[in-house]
Amino acid sequence: MSNTPSTTASPLRKILVTSALPYANGSIHLGHMVETIQTDIWVRFQKLRGHHCLYVCADDAHGTAIMLTAEKNGVTAQQQIDNVRKEHETDFAGFSIGFDNYHTTHSNENKALSELIYNRLKANGHIAEREITQAFDPEKQLFLADRYIKGTCPKCKTPDQYGDNCEACGATYAPMDLLEAKSAISGATPIAKASKHLFFKLPEFTAFLQEWTRAGHLQPEVANKLAEWLDSGLQEWDISRDAPYFGFEIPGESGKYFYVWLDAPIGYIASCQHYCEKNNLDFNEYWAADSTAEVYHFIGKDIINFHALFWPAMLSSAQFRTPTQVFAHGFLTVDGKKMSKSRGTFIKASTYLKHLDPEYLRYYYATKLTGGVDDLDLNLEDFVARVNSDLVGKVVNIASRTAKFINKNGSVLSANNPNPVLWQQFCDASETIAELYETREFGKAMREIMALADSANEYIAEMAPWSLAKDPANAQQVHDICSLGVNCFAALATFLKPVLPTTMRDAETFLNTTLQWNSTLSYLGEHTINTFKPLMTRVDVKAVAAMVEASKEEQTAPETSTAATESSNEWLTQEPIAPEIEFDDFAKVDLRIAKIVNAEHVEKANKLLRLTLDIGESRNVFAGIKSAYNPEDLIGKHTVMVANLKARKMKFGMSEGMVLAAGPGGKDLFILEPHTGAQPGMRVM
Ligand code: MSP
Ligand code: ZN
Repeated sequence: MSNTPSTTASPLRKILVTSALPYANGSIHLGHMVETIQTDIWVRFQKLRGHHCLYVCADDAHGTAIMLTAEKNGVTAQQQIDNVRKEHETDFAGFSIGFDNYHTTHSNENKALSELIYNRLKANGHIAEREITQAFDPEKQLFLADRYIKGTCPKCKTPDQYGDNCEACGATYAPMDLLEAKSAISGATPIAKASKHLFFKLPEFTAFLQEWTRAGHLQPEVANKLAEWLDSGLQEWDISRDAPYFGFEIPGESGKYFYVWLDAPIGYIASCQHYCEKNNLDFNEYWAADSTAEVYHFIGKDIINFHALFWPAMLSSAQFRTPTQVFAHGFLTVDGKKMSKSRGTFIKASTYLKHLDPEYLRYYYATKLTGGVDDLDLNLEDFVARVNSDLVGKVVNIASRTAKFINKNGSVLSANNPNPVLWQQFCDASETIAELYETREFGKAMREIMALADSANEYIAEMAPWSLAKDPANAQQVHDICSLGVNCFAALATFLKPVLPTTMRDAETFLNTTLQWNSTLSYLGEHTINTFKPLMTRVDVKAVAAMVEASKEEQTAPETSTAATESSNEWLTQEPIAPEIEFDDFAKVDLRIAKIVNAEHVEKANKLLRLTLDIGESRNVFAGIKSAYNPEDLIGKHTVMVANLKARKMKFGMSEGMVLAAGPGGKDLFILEPHTGAQPGMRVM
């Protein structure tokens, strides 16, 4: 139960790392690449530091969505997942993602492990059975998950709403309550049908999870969020699906399959086992309850509950070890917005690779990545500027300005360091940068590295070896200066090697050495280098534009491949982009001056305050402004409310309207305070 061991002078570690398993029914896009690039950089860093690190992944091959995609494509499920797997592996290789093993969840190893784990859960009394009633497509003979039911909202009558909530009015309901409900698959009217389901008794793990989620395995913000769920009570988890379903049949049952999310994380173990068996290793060294290896899962914030609640609970019941840490990251936006097909910012990995060097994106993501769960933005203009300025303008520039003087004079570096202070700066930064990599603060690491590059460039500019070289009497001085330049470049190349594996392989050829990142940097001394060749070209703005155009034209696979559809979207902070409305729609909003006559805390609510508002009549409203206001400071103030918002039943009572507030959030959230002459009940124009 310890946090990440420090890298400084730590002995050889045995580490297993995973990225979340991408669904086998869609293409890899630049959102997925945030995760695999983040993981790959971390893994390459560990390997470069000399640790034993194994990186495994797989395609997540099961589920209804994949079955339906195969059907639509006119192929068998097996063909579908085989095709997609090839495509995924090609895309990842294109970005130099260095998996030690890439498997599939539809494998013998995974089947055997899923059965083993399920049988242990069952033997431990952690599986419950009961009948549930669900919507059923009588034509397709298929139970329908919420997102496969479509109909008219029973509250506001907006047509074409999916599942259990209305995008137009926000109402929530049972999918069967949709008016004129239809199966989104066949168009048939669903019927209600009962069947037996198997449940994992998650509530029995409440105490275990309360402890586990606070024991250093999760980022603090993730642990806090989970505490809310743990406090409000866990539910039993439905782990079975009825046939037809593409997956593994549940032992001892007939026509029942494991829900995709039951066997997906087991796929981590299966891929590890597959690797170990090919390499004569014992996978128990990683997964047995008493394993001393470190296990890390890199995941997106949308799938935290699966990895930080269900997964550790399952593992502990089944007598496997639990992960050392789960590292969640945020979501990608492009130019500040959710990726969009019409704007051409839903960019597939393969499309990117047709237009741009993968190392650019690896670097750009590195500059944006932190150890937290914040979303990160790919700003295309900034992308071009940053890569050109940092990599081409700063790092590669050091080598290109100094190497030619060495190459002209026999290519042997000088061992005489003309500026020990500058070199000491590099030596001192080495462990700081290593610690930043270890804690996934890649953005900060890149800034440290670029600051060193700035120092080296300033030194070279100041010494101006190109001017000194005009006088043959300065030959030794020029040689010493340029050798220091090459040494600085070699240090930067080492620090950047996890991020830029291809460029730095070329740098290694030039430097005629394999770069190792030991705890002390060593000066190359009298070492022979090779002829310098340009290492990277500038990003071409036109290539970026062409990539966006190509993405607009592509007919990409349906977005059902995103994990959010299978899981809670409470983590998705992205605001939906509201559609344009007519003036008439706007005029329907009845804005009124309200006097806050009372304000109080709501027990167990994290964000809400209960407000009593006077608009000529009294209204009870819950407002999510607790982070910004003490209730007592609000009493007596005037604010603006939407008075004709339909009353909504919330967990804590009815909310009869909405108050308007603005600001970035947290402490900076301001209720609108109209002119003091405003009278309660007055209409706001
Ligand atoms: N199959 C599940 C994971 C099972 S792990 C046992 C799944 N697949 S996914 O293809 O939808 O997503 C794979 C990973 O990519 C997830 O960690 C997800 O969070 C991440 N991302 C998908 N879209 C993303 C962005 N737009 N931005 C950042 N990460 C994103 O979930
Ligand atoms: Zn509605």
